[in-house]
Amino acid sequence: MKESLLDVLREPVTGAVLKLEVDKWDGQEVVAGRLISQETGREYPIRDGIPRMVDEDNYCASFGLQWNLMSQVQVDSATGAWYSHHRFDVETDWGPDELEGRWILDAGCGCGRFAEVAAEYGGQVIAMDYSSAVDAARQNLSRFGNVHFVQGDILNPPLATGSLDFVYSIGVLQHTPDPRVGMTSLIRRLKPGGEFTFTIYSRKWYTKLYSKYWLRPVTRRLPPRFLLGAVRASMPVLFPMSDVAFRLPLLGKVARFVLPVANYVEKTEFTRQQRYHEAVLDTFDMLSPAFDEPMSPNEVTDVLRQEEVERFFFRTEFPVVVCGQTSLSNERLVNETQPVSVQSSGL
Ligand SMILES: C[S@@+](CC[C@H](N)C(=O)[O-])C[C@H]1O[C@@H](n2cnc3c(N)ncnc32)[C@H](O)[C@@H]1O
Repeated sequence: MKESLLDVLREPVTGAVLKLEVDKWDGQEVVAGRLISQETGREYPIRDGIPRMVDEDNYCASFGLQWNLMSQVQVDSATGAWYSHHRFDVETDWGPDELEGRWILDAGCGCGRFAEVAAEYGGQVIAMDYSSAVDAARQNLSRFGNVHFVQGDILNPPLATGSLDFVYSIGVLQHTPDPRVGMTSLIRRLKPGGEFTFTIYSRKWYTKLYSKYWLRPVTRRLPPRFLLGAVRASMPVLFPMSDVAFRLPLLGKVARFVLPVANYVEKTEFTRQQRYHEAVLDTFDMLSPAFDEPMSPNEVTDVLRQEEVERFFFRTEFPVVVCGQTSLSNERLVNETQPVSVQSSGL
């Protein structure tokens, strides 16, 4: 953890300022120590360089497993492909001109594939995840001096209200117990005039007929390692089958709906072997999460209106990719923003 993170890091729920006590440094990084709430006195450990602001035994264990075991499958610098860069560019439309030197939150960073892009664009990126995926992100992105890692919860972000310039969350909110609260909490962390992009699974009348939703009542209750073993064991059959079926004209669309396999046949930059590894990762990702509640564009609109977000638009509705900006004269945000008074033990 870098000391500069204290400018925006706060105790979850109370928003209290945190005092840093350091046990071990590695250059400019705090590797071990604790953060102490100046309001409640509660201590939050810093372990392996990451402030742990949540109970580490939580509903995201399957994500921790998947991103630590398959940490590089979708990271552009490891694969040599450009998919994560392309997706970040298309969904956020932010580049170095906007992001350089600004505070950016990647909410639900997983292995850090999009935080890598934001870091390359020069932002002060906070890569936050509820699960131990954040450890995989730290390993993948350790070469950047401008990435901060936090194990934290989107529903109670350990970040000061009104402190961030940009927030994005890609493919995450539907996996929280309450996506509406998640959106609200994230928007409140933005400064007046701050920008957001949220990508969320979209709900249509037929969404829950998709085969994964028939399997999930069972699969999400299985021990994650057992489920991963089952996905790995079935892939030698499911992958070649889907590789043919998903390419069929017209019938291909039906096959994608019926076969719960994440085989992205359109990804031509990947070798067949890279697609195979991604199919294992993303099939497990479909079947294992504790929560999977897509939102309709109307529901998203409701939340944004309640938060008095004046400027927003849907880049796409399926999936929901919604982008916007908080009002420059948002008095609630201005009033809730706390003065920064950092106390460090200076060890
Ligand atoms: C499908 S993965 C997406 C990861 C990354 N955004 C990506 O697209 O590669 C969802 C991630 O959200 C995280 N997550 C779920 N609930 C969360 C919460 N309440 N707060 C923070 N992260 C959460 C999971 O641990 C997981 O890493």
